[in-house]
Amino acid sequence: MAHSLFKNLGALIQPAPVDDEGINLKGINCTNPKFVYTTPSCQYPTGVKMSMSRRFQLLNWAAVNETYIIEDDYNHEFSNWEKPLGSLFGMDLQERVVYLGTFNKLIHPSLRLGYIILPEQLIGPVSGLYQQSSRFVPRQDQKAMSAFIQKDYLNKHLRKVIDTAQHRKEYFVEQFNAILGDWFQLETSCLGLHLIAHIKKKQSDLYIEQKLMDQNIRVHALSRYYILPNDANGLVMGFCSVNQKQIKETIRKIGEIMGQL
Ligand SMILES: Cc1ncc(COP(=O)(O)O)c(C=O)c1O
Repeated sequence: MAHSLFKNLGALIQPAPVDDEGINLKGINCTNPKFVYTTPSCQYPTGVKMSMSRRFQLLNWAAVNETYIIEDDYNHEFSNWEKPLGSLFGMDLQERVVYLGTFNKLIHPSLRLGYIILPEQLIGPVSGLYQQSSRFVPRQDQKAMSAFIQKDYLNKHLRKVIDTAQHRKEYFVEQFNAILGDWFQLETSCLGLHLIAHIKKKQSDLYIEQKLMDQNIRVHALSRYYILPNDANGLVMGFCSVNQKQIKETIRKIGEIMGQL
């Protein structure tokens, strides 16, 4: 999503590799980058959380290169609560980090309410852009959200949502492995609200994605998420916006479809 957004804005994009500690700076081959975009709490779709040492490296790198880091912390509530690591923004002493957050995952995707925390020197330019674009985020929604936070309802809601997400994940993994284990190897370490299932057999993820889509089951082919050629072959599946009954039924249907391929 972010990639296509930047591309549509005409940005020259240089992909950076991600290993099990997060973004690998050695793989960045770019002089004078305007900014680096990253999701340190939970890289999408791999689910990797950036290690502390990588966070320091990235901050130093940004300071040396006089570039900005856009820290998109889109689901830190789910991926960074168990063993929380400090945000890049919180660790930044050089005013190099732009922090983005959203309420859309926590409350509802239709809310369209997010926030941005900026280094002082960017407040002017970003306010200017905001005036020209999305300045009509409804005031009443913002006020309601503000009261929701101040009265501590957000924390209570968060606890409930995290519990529900955990239960749904456990149930999803159990059902998936029982019914689809012959076709897929499920990766359960991901900290987000989605899981990756690697395809064991020969079919391509794009083919399976289409076959499932034909039956109104929406999954995303893992190979789509890579900019450079890769051998990724898997499905990215959300599990949190559906209840146990829907999870069970959908997995049963996927089993049927896979049996016919
Ligand atoms: C990488 C990334 N950033 C941000 C968001 C949040 O987007 P929005 O607040 O527009 O729902 C998402 C949503 O899934 C995401 O995957």
